[in-house]
Amino acid sequence: MGTRAVLLNPGPVTLSERVRSALTSGDWCHREPEFAQLTREINAKLVAVYPEMRDAFEAVMLTGSGTSAVEAMLASFAPDDGRTLVVANGVYGERMARILAAHRKPCELLQLPWLSPLDINAVLGLLDRVSDITHIATVHHETTTGRLNDMDALGKVCRERKLPMLLDGVSSFGAEQFDPIGWNLEAVAGTANKCLHGVPGLSFVIARRRNWARARPEVGSVYLDLYGYYAGQHGDGYSPFTQSVQVALALREALDELDESGGWQARREIYRQRAARIHAELTALNVESVLNDNDCSCVLRSYLLPANLSYPVLHDDLKAQGFVIYAGQGELAKRIFRLACMGDIRQADLNALCSALQAAVAGGR
Ligand SMILES: Cc1ncc(COP(=O)(O)O)c(C=O)c1O
Repeated sequence: MGTRAVLLNPGPVTLSERVRSALTSGDWCHREPEFAQLTREINAKLVAVYPEMRDAFEAVMLTGSGTSAVEAMLASFAPDDGRTLVVANGVYGERMARILAAHRKPCELLQLPWLSPLDINAVLGLLDRVSDITHIATVHHETTTGRLNDMDALGKVCRERKLPMLLDGVSSFGAEQFDPIGWNLEAVAGTANKCLHGVPGLSFVIARRRNWARARPEVGSVYLDLYGYYAGQHGDGYSPFTQSVQVALALREALDELDESGGWQARREIYRQRAARIHAELTALNVESVLNDNDCSCVLRSYLLPANLSYPVLHDDLKAQGFVIYAGQGELAKRIFRLACMGDIRQADLNALCSALQAAVAGGR
């Protein structure tokens, strides 16, 4: 592989030069005022990505991957004296249920097939049968297949039944639309290294102010207790544990870059254009999309492997040309491949990718 890797996996992403150089812009101590200031800035910029969140929500950041933010959100906000309904149609929804079980939190799992949309009638049926459900947890963009879940439909249920929504926005925050009021959104977990184009190592939870103002409950984790992060970061600015300082410097740069380039809407448009270009190429090569166009996120799409081409061969052919693609998970591993369009992907990269796809599909094996 050459020096420039074009990452088409769903994060980490190919960094822009600007973000990459911010990574080496300072050796700072996390217990000095400049880092406290950086923490405050990042938290403010995170809630400003969606202006609809700015007034009613506050963010905390933590050192860890996206799963750490999802686990921290559920450990801190999912109730012990109520029940969380997890609506899952992929790996990450099912992981939310595993996290709740690990924290011994009451949970009802609506486990849907991975290729299916959220089944609102099944949600309503469960809510009628299980009377102690107080919260709903789900995944905005289910990266397992690339499906952008119909949050408006599920959000309407949350709003009408007064059920706060705890959302995994790890692979959508920064590029897809969020409607905090329409979805009765209580909290969302996200990460630095997907649609925000930062470096892996930092993640965050954005939650309604009223959560932070509550009397601090017992949280069944020391590291993932978000109330500790909130008290520190929104007090003197310091976090309870060592933060990934250089990754934070890169995240601030990535957030500035997002803002200066037109925010999440512009990013969604760029991703859509990239995805459409790749989709047209694959369609011409008779490679079929797993989902209908309307169900796909702008971030990632899944395609059926052609009958004469195995994933390892496709992967290795493309990697030899500098492109890293992603396999399916679980029982989809042998049937699909996935292509994300986040990060610093240029027109020349797309041209070269299309040629590499043509050669790989024509070559078969
Ligand atoms: C929707 C979603 N949730 C959670 C995760 C887990 O993130 P991480 O691998 O950074 O822990 C991912 C990773 O791709 C994801 O796509």
